[in-house]
Amino acid sequence: MADLVRFGISLEKELLAKFDKHIKEKNYPTRSKAIGDLIRENLVKKEWKEGKEVVGAITLVYNHHRRELVNRLTDVEHDFHRLVISSQHIHLDEDNCLEIVVVKGKPGEVEELASSLKATKGVKHGSLTMATTGKGIV
Ligand code: NI
Repeated sequence: MADLVRFGISLEKELLAKFDKHIKEKNYPTRSKAIGDLIRENLVKKEWKEGKEVVGAITLVYNHHRRELVNRLTDVEHDFHRLVISSQHIHLDEDNCLEIVVVKGKPGEVEELASSLKATKGVKHGSLTMATTGKGIV
């Protein structure tokens, strides 16, 4: 485990009360864990802005009866094959499919892939979870 450092933080009473309520709702065991996560979240945002290597998950929901759509999504994934680590397909019901594409690469390229997939006609919902390789943060 990394060395721990204790330090004091001065905050408005009302702000701290709101924070405590918020982290209780989020099931955080301690303020330290919650503050550490806020710092890490910001460092990950910075990684995406600075263009360092990042990882992410693109989630898509679509109707598989639209064959052209399925082919188009496959074409886009092949165009960006260097970024795609894995792709998981889940049959949600008779019509709807959920696809999770795990990606790794430069933020700009990952975002381009995500928006190309989301923008494909017939995709009902698409989202990109911006995560980290974990190398740059504790
Ligand atoms: Ni399916």
